[in-house]
Amino acid sequence: MATTIEKFQEQGGRLKTDDIDFERFRTEPLDPKVLRCIAYMHDIEYHTVMYTRELLLTPAWKDPQFTSFLTLWNYEEYWHGQALGRILAMHDMPAHDERLKAMRVYKKRMLTVSPVIFWAIGHGVRQFPAVHMTWGAINEWTANAAYNRLAQIADHPVLTELLGRIMRQEGRHAAFYGNWARDLLADSTRAQKVTSWFLRHQWAPVGSDDVPEIETAFACAFLFGEGEGIELINRVDERVKALPGLSGLTLVGPAIREQTKFVLAHEGPNALAYERPLAAAVAEDFHHTH
Ligand SMILES: [Fe+2]
Ligand SMILES: [Fe+2]
Repeated sequence: MATTIEKFQEQGGRLKTDDIDFERFRTEPLDPKVLRCIAYMHDIEYHTVMYTRELLLTPAWKDPQFTSFLTLWNYEEYWHGQALGRILAMHDMPAHDERLKAMRVYKKRMLTVSPVIFWAIGHGVRQFPAVHMTWGAINEWTANAAYNRLAQIADHPVLTELLGRIMRQEGRHAAFYGNWARDLLADSTRAQKVTSWFLRHQWAPVGSDDVPEIETAFACAFLFGEGEGIELINRVDERVKALPGLSGLTLVGPAIREQTKFVLAHEGPNALAYERPLAAAVAEDFHHTH
């Protein structure tokens, strides 16, 4: 059954960061490849308001449960972006508005027309709520996996604590979208068919249309291209398959493999090479042999 907004709002709100020691990144900086992923995540988190803008143009605005969810979801994602921006700033990298302004110029034309497209699809495709709920669930499951994997790879105590807090909120987002999607799909085989069509033909990892293609590809490949990352993504695909009528769909794993090829072709064979901090490497080997 769908999560009610009363339940959703219980543990939500602004990400707690007042006790996070951001200064520690000055003395113990993160690896440039980890930072490249954080920059991508920063952009996507902050971009949630643009997704909200699109979703509000579909007839889903009629349901106050959905508009309440969008309000809280958007607010929580904003603080994820803000926290990640603070990490970038600690490494003297551009963050917050500086990156967002560039992003909006970069995709200005698409951002200008996308509300019209969403209005048209939203009003033309009666089953569209099932599509965007399922889509949202996939992106939130993937976000959760991405933070999990990034914390594991970077093995930095401050980052691990912060990402753990973000992950808990992503888990709530995923549950909300996933439960709602499950209900809509269970109610209608037409919704299953339409959702399956949209996912097969239109879905791509989040960010594909919002930041340069290579940045989305890099984050996907770096986080999920090997080792435990592959297992995490397989689990996302299993969750998608478990939704009513979507058992034939294997979506995320193949997309990651394509992204990995793309990165290696554009940035060379060492593009994804990364020397993990020793503690993380030992923990992962332990996990694999036990
Ligand atoms: Fe988030
Ligand atoms: Fe989220």
